[in-house]
Amino acid sequence: MRQTIKDTVEEFWSFEVVEEIGRKRAAPDSVDFLQEFLDLLGIRGAIWPVPSGRRAIEWVLKSTAKPGKDSVLICNFNCPAVSDAVLNAGFVVETFDFSSVNGSIDWGAIVESLKPEHAAIIIPHLFGVPYDFSEIIETCRSMDVLIIEDCAHTVGALIGDRPTGTVGDAAVFSFNYDKPLSLGWGGALLANTKALASKVQIPRMEGISVEWEYKKMSEFNAFLIHRRRMIGHESIFHRAMRKITRANRFDLPDTSIGPLRAALGLWQLERYSKVLKLRNDNANFVVDSSQNYSCWPVGKNIKPAWLRQKVITNLPHQGIAIAKRLRREGMRVGNFNWPKPIDHSQNGKETASHLLSRFGLDIPVHQNMSKDLLRKICHDLNGKDQKDGIIA
Ligand SMILES: Cc1ncc(COP(=O)(O)O)c(C=O)c1O
Repeated sequence: MRQTIKDTVEEFWSFEVVEEIGRKRAAPDSVDFLQEFLDLLGIRGAIWPVPSGRRAIEWVLKSTAKPGKDSVLICNFNCPAVSDAVLNAGFVVETFDFSSVNGSIDWGAIVESLKPEHAAIIIPHLFGVPYDFSEIIETCRSMDVLIIEDCAHTVGALIGDRPTGTVGDAAVFSFNYDKPLSLGWGGALLANTKALASKVQIPRMEGISVEWEYKKMSEFNAFLIHRRRMIGHESIFHRAMRKITRANRFDLPDTSIGPLRAALGLWQLERYSKVLKLRNDNANFVVDSSQNYSCWPVGKNIKPAWLRQKVITNLPHQGIAIAKRLRREGMRVGNFNWPKPIDHSQNGKETASHLLSRFGLDIPVHQNMSKDLLRKICHDLNGKDQKDGIIA
């Protein structure tokens, strides 16, 4: 029985908010929004609005390209948009793996692997949990390797007492759907040093009107409604229909952040701390309920800003079956981020990234999840059949 439908991450605004903001015709621009964004996070630095997180990666890499530095190090368990951005910027993608299937990273091993050809390393702060990567900073500086923090999933978390995004040389943010703050699409690039800020080159983007943005936001809203209606409908028929109609897609416009979405961003920033508290409470509930599954690691001195929980059950194959049942009941649990590692040639061995891609389950912990729903998910994942399993 489908009692309720819950996506993995849900916006904390509704389309009525967009309509109301559109009617008011208050027209802040992206600078107002991004200034508030920096203030909320306690960040100082130069920030630019960009069409997406992937463009932020591409443009900062292009802006800092140097002869002899032709590859970029990224985590193998990653969003394909990250590796596409590196390739679009004209660099070779090199991957590093987790040191264990629970998502830990051995920063000492990363230091050992750094080479003069590396132009940059992208730090994957996934699911709302930043890594403390301080161990690599000195070597990166001495080898002239740019450190880019990927904050697409992580807004408002701390590494020690420093806001995530301010520890490396640059940070990228995403305002796509499925992200901490959603504007339908969009992103930001932050430069933490004057030297880097002076090099960043952002291509000129056309200004956009409230009317145009409203029309695109209506399309985005239709996409979300369709996407959520399809949760749990996984028959061959439904999949084929989706392919034919392309109805489950919303192609990201390659534009800056216009006045309507800047106002929507300001509206969200006013409410973000409250929302974050709910998400953090929910993520901690999943941790506290764990008996037969492991949660995403949180390092020492880390204060997360959870976006989703990522778990792996003691019997990983059965976890996949449990997730499928939960989806049929209307809760989007599964190995969505991401079902394949960037480099999926296995060379005969199952790496941590391969195992996480196959068996790691995204658990929704957003502000619209009730404790009853979370209890049900945790109960099923803890199922008796998991008890004797061991993590692969
Ligand atoms: C970890 C991560 N980094 C970067 C991106 C790229 O962000 P955008 O979709 O705004 O290009 C995404 C999502 O798509 C992501 O999940």
